[in-house]
Amino acid sequence: MEAYLFEWLNLLLRWLHVITAIAWIGSSFYFVWLDNSLTRPEDPELLEKGVGGELWAVHGGGFYNPQKYLLAPQKLPKHLHWFFWESYSTWLSGFALFSVLYLFNAGTFLVDRHVLEMTASTAVFAALAYLVAGWLMYDLICRVFGDRKNGDRIVGLLVTLYVVVAVWVACHVFSGRAAFLMTGASLATVMSANVLFWIIPGQRKMVAAMRAGQSPDPIHGKRGKQRSVHNTYFTLPVIFAMLSNHYSMTYSAPSNWLVLLLIMLAGVLIRQFFVLRHKDIVKWQYPVAAIVILAAVAAWIVPKSVLEPAAGNPNASVSFAQVQQVIQTRCIQCHAAKPTLMPVPGKGIILDNQDGILQHAQDIYQQVVVQKAMPLGNMTNITDEERALIGKWFEQGAKSE
Ligand code: HEC
Repeated sequence: MEAYLFEWLNLLLRWLHVITAIAWIGSSFYFVWLDNSLTRPEDPELLEKGVGGELWAVHGGGFYNPQKYLLAPQKLPKHLHWFFWESYSTWLSGFALFSVLYLFNAGTFLVDRHVLEMTASTAVFAALAYLVAGWLMYDLICRVFGDRKNGDRIVGLLVTLYVVVAVWVACHVFSGRAAFLMTGASLATVMSANVLFWIIPGQRKMVAAMRAGQSPDPIHGKRGKQRSVHNTYFTLPVIFAMLSNHYSMTYSAPSNWLVLLLIMLAGVLIRQFFVLRHKDIVKWQYPVAAIVILAAVAAWIVPKSVLEPAAGNPNASVSFAQVQQVIQTRCIQCHAAKPTLMPVPGKGIILDNQDGILQHAQDIYQQVVVQKAMPLGNMTNITDEERALIGKWFEQGAKSE
């Protein structure tokens, strides 16, 4: 029952998280597009009012005409719409999901003793410290170099360097699966913290100055913009990192940190293509480079099992008893009604009886043979021969005797 309720909690939090993330990234994409698509108005009245760019659009049966003021309108309207709950709710739901999935099961999810031996509580501490330290490092870079003359460029370079180091560290501390997610969570934390600590407060100061009849200090706008540009380039890498959990071929590859960096780079290049395209600059070299990188990564990390079919006589029949034996030794520590390695069975899947194994045969094949995602972090030391045995049994029809 506990495992079942746990699955529901997982499902509801994930659903919420995806919805809020769509709202956040959707509005972020929209504003980047809008900002880059504005054209100088021709109407002298608009120019007079201080409008520097406008746009006409048709959507959902209506016509829209957003206008962007060069500095600010002469008089601020009473009701200004702010965009921040999209970001905060994404972070909050993401952190809740992370806690339920990873922190609650730190020993199995965060730790891979082939990477680094540590206790569950050390792992929880390390994960939280990683999120906080990531923000402090990034923020320090922006604070120290952001306002300089060549600030945007220096900060851009240092932030890239920081991401490289952060990915490397995560992949040498946490299990591959957790490392990818943690890196995504860390960048997403930076994005949300940018909104919370810089972009919104900067806007508040500008609005307060204007309401007081003073002209706002342009530094707030400049700082907010710099961080918002970083957020733009973080989006695709972060979304990949969040999805990577379903693709163990990426995070279980030998130099997984490099795999993650290259896929993130492809994401940045694709984003850059769209940012430029909104300004009517079409540079196909960006997506082409991204595709080349992705293809190269795919070719580089192709698993051995895909290249070389399992050894042994392919026709020798595998009995259910042989498979059950493997599952008894390698899986039920986490997949029994009362597992010993985890508080509740992983995904609620119970494999300590014949029905359970037969019912999940397809999934077992997928997880153990194709993806090699199970046993989690190979904590129970399954061998390649045992994987091949399960593979053969499934390919021969997953028989029950
Ligand atoms: C150390 C604990 C552990 C061991 C050992 C383990 N699993 Fe899992 N398993 C998990 C966890 C945790 C999940 C849930 C993963 C998630 O939420 O994505 C899971 C999920 C699964 C799933 C469902 C995956 C999905 O997303 O649909 C299958 C199937 C599975 N395991 C099969 C196995 C088999 C077969 C073995 C033995 C060869 C095994 N597991 C060994 C912890 C373990």
